[in-house]
Amino acid sequence: MNYRHAYHAGNFADVVKHAALTLVLDHLCKKETPFCVVDTHAGVGCYDLKSVEAEKTGESTDGIARLLGGAPLPSSFDSYLNALRAVNPDWPQLRFYPGSPCIARALLRPNDRLALVELHPEDVRALKREFARDPQVGVHADDAYTALKALLPPKERRGLVLIDPPFEVKDEFQRVAKGLSQALRRWPTGIYGVWYPIKDPEPVERFLGEIVNLGRPCLTSELFRYPPDDPLRFNGSGLLLVNPPWQIDDALADMLPVLANRLGAAGPCGVRWLLRNA
Ligand SMILES: C[S@@+](CC[C@H](N)C(=O)[O-])C[C@H]1O[C@@H](n2cnc3c(N)ncnc32)[C@H](O)[C@@H]1O
Repeated sequence: MNYRHAYHAGNFADVVKHAALTLVLDHLCKKETPFCVVDTHAGVGCYDLKSVEAEKTGESTDGIARLLGGAPLPSSFDSYLNALRAVNPDWPQLRFYPGSPCIARALLRPNDRLALVELHPEDVRALKREFARDPQVGVHADDAYTALKALLPPKERRGLVLIDPPFEVKDEFQRVAKGLSQALRRWPTGIYGVWYPIKDPEPVERFLGEIVNLGRPCLTSELFRYPPDDPLRFNGSGLLLVNPPWQIDDALADMLPVLANRLGAAGPCGVRWLLRNA
């Protein structure tokens, strides 16, 4: 486990992923009944953009700094901006970037719950510190896919499982597909979000094909930073949604061009239904 998200926090891909994540959370907040978010690869709650790691790569300059550097954003970004504001005491000065745990936490209502799973011992310690006195948040030091067996279905029977692996092992797509298949057997009606990087489109399409075979409604939202013509480059990323919330396709389709424009993306973006009527 070499991957450390602190080097990448607030970068291009994080912004695209987290802005979409807040749309799903907004949807969950529309109904009064409580929901649960399970974040299987949590990282740490919040990242200091002035840390040695963040300053070494400077990746947030082309991500969150760029998104915030222009005219006011449309209202679809309100929840994302609220999550950013919640971790930055000197807002609108940006010093800290919220990871998925702090973004989800910022949008929970008093009866909602967040379960965080993380394998790296340092990140687990950071999460336990961050959420030490928070009765709505549970931290699980475990492997993502093992933890899903214990955590699903959540008692709320409503919510999101976010699967956001580092993709540092070669068979990560197969591991996600297997984990998702097992998770869906335990909780067929949950919303599942899977983030994935796009270099060579071929393994991505093979993975998406496997997900279609699981027989649940699913769509994917992709944004390319570069034209997809170099299979060795990190060209873009996608967020696969299984059991996508009602009308999330329209919300994502409205948000993606704003992100592409603000982040200076030179490749395509769009939302694609993989299986509409399961
Ligand atoms: C891409 S980062 C997560 C970023 C975070 N979800 C966010 O959006 O802010 C991936 C995380 O997964 C953790 N990880 C790697 N393998 C894991 C596994 N098998 N189970 C749980 N966590 C794992 C890494 O330590 C790393 O913190």
